[in-house]
Amino acid sequence: MGFLGRDIISIGDLSRSEIDEVLRSARRLIPVAEGSRRSDVLRGQLLALGFFEPSTRTRLSFETAMLRLGGQVITIADPLSSSVAKGETLSDTVRMLSSYADALVIRHPNEGASRLAAQVSDKPVINAGDGAGQHPTQTLLDLATMQERFETLHGLKVVLMGDLRYGRTVHSLARALALFGTELVLASPPTLRMPESVRRELDQSGIRVTEESELGRAVRDADVLYVTRIQKERFGDLAEYARVSASYRLDPSLLGQVKPKFIVMHPLPRVAEIPPEVDSSPHAAYFRQAFLAVPVRMALLSLILTGKVPVPGRG
Ligand code: NCD
Repeated sequence: MGFLGRDIISIGDLSRSEIDEVLRSARRLIPVAEGSRRSDVLRGQLLALGFFEPSTRTRLSFETAMLRLGGQVITIADPLSSSVAKGETLSDTVRMLSSYADALVIRHPNEGASRLAAQVSDKPVINAGDGAGQHPTQTLLDLATMQERFETLHGLKVVLMGDLRYGRTVHSLARALALFGTELVLASPPTLRMPESVRRELDQSGIRVTEESELGRAVRDADVLYVTRIQKERFGDLAEYARVSASYRLDPSLLGQVKPKFIVMHPLPRVAEIPPEVDSSPHAAYFRQAFLAVPVRMALLSLILTGKVPVPGRG
């Protein structure tokens, strides 16, 4: 199946070879994302972004990707400034956006909201995060970051740390890493373990998955540490949040014991889980990761809107 007109709701919507195609295309588009080469392959195309939850990187990198490829955007960045504040339903908003634009990107606090949006939209819908559900395009740029460092993902040992229960980025990422044959180590507070449904899929995939509560032991022979924010907004009980949020921080001294090519990743925003002194370490990859959002989303938007990826011209 080609990419043209496709919805991307779950990472499971993409096969291993389709993910490879996006990553290959994204590498070619890095000079366009940097602004050193030009392309206007998306001229005449309009992307609608409906963000019903806060966002910095996801929204702005989608907008940047579209604008750098000559396309245009319309955005609901703050639901309180739209008719959602008057009680309009998501389906009415989506139906209207799909009559204005050529594709939609939706972020919403409810799990399943993007799937619902895809059902009422006659234009392709991309899930940019649905509650504690999934965040498939974040996964694509996470994989791009690992691939840029290690070439092949097969055989890597990846530690997923922090809020594995509510963190949607790790729900998508763990499933994708299983396709690539990585080993996973899950390091979370006991109350924030990976949901059973994801755990089952990982177990069925045949990759090695272990749990490790002692971070020092987990990172010693690992290739990647993927840190997540404790998802405060999804806690019913803020006392419980306060208890667990103090318990998961990367101690910079751990970086003294890691492999030379080891990287620390984070989808960002970080709160306190990675102290700023890690930023200058050669192991810190999270700002490169945030940049790679642009070429990866360029590749995906080109494939969905035109069926192909541009070969960037000079200057
Ligand atoms: C993440 C998200 O929104 O799920 N951020 C992002 O998209 N880069 C992670 C988070 O909010 O903790």
